[in-house]
Amino acid sequence: MIQGVVPEGSTPPPHPLPPHPALTAYYAGAAERVGFVRRLFDVTAGDYDGINQIFSFGTARRHRARMLREIGLGPGKMVLDVATGTGMLAAAALSLVGPLGSVTALDLSAGMLRVAGRHRGLRLVQGSMEALPFANAQFELLTMGYALRHAASLGGAFAEFARVLRPGGQVLLLEIGRPGSRLAHLLAGAYLGRVVPLLSRLAGSGRHAETLMRYYWDTIETCVSPETILTALLAAGFQNARCTTEFGLLKTYRATRP
Ligand SMILES: C[S@@+](CC[C@H](N)C(=O)[O-])C[C@H]1O[C@@H](n2cnc3c(N)ncnc32)[C@H](O)[C@@H]1O
Repeated sequence: MIQGVVPEGSTPPPHPLPPHPALTAYYAGAAERVGFVRRLFDVTAGDYDGINQIFSFGTARRHRARMLREIGLGPGKMVLDVATGTGMLAAAALSLVGPLGSVTALDLSAGMLRVAGRHRGLRLVQGSMEALPFANAQFELLTMGYALRHAASLGGAFAEFARVLRPGGQVLLLEIGRPGSRLAHLLAGAYLGRVVPLLSRLAGSGRHAETLMRYYWDTIETCVSPETILTALLAAGFQNARCTTEFGLLKTYRATRP
């Protein structure tokens, strides 16, 4: 496990800081990006869990649940899962907070929220991470799994995360990042960038599932560095921002609202 901490007081990145440049192979420019992402997740919602379980070798659910346990999530907590998708992370949180806690699950895509609706007990909300439809200081833990690369503005999203968290509240962001070593990068590119899109096309809903997974790898390839993400968290007012890495590419960002 690798630990990366950016010293507090380091220079903040430029606001609003998109996590990657516009990917014009998929959409014309930055203005079309949100619409493209929403449509892509709408049409692939039914395939998402199956594809995830296959390419993560069946570890997708277990990894999310472990990360929640490691951050100490327990009974009675108020959780917001941003970009919940099919609710995989939110459902794991629900089983830990029990009947005295609550889990609110927000997503941009109505298609994804429809699938998330099969997890009874989640409070589903359609909305955008850059303009959260909640009052200040509502939640004790904010989670987001594998969606940081889809933010239109990291600065805008992190400022919203700080706003809706109570003082002392924590943020937990799960991500995939570019592996550091050349060989690991080559192998990850071959697997995630070529094999997985092809398998997804065969196992999922054809070309949409393939596009989803090609886009997935292209956003990983072009994403800003973990140091930039940590600096953006600090710039949004978080403290103790840190990143751990497992297996070279599984990144976990944690930070606390003062
Ligand atoms: C890769 S899925 C992750 C789903 C889930 N968090 C998980 O752990 O499996 C990314 C999700 O982010 C959502 N999303 C993308 N941009 C968003 C935004 N600006 N605000 C809220 N949700 C967004 C998509 O609709 C999609 O459901």
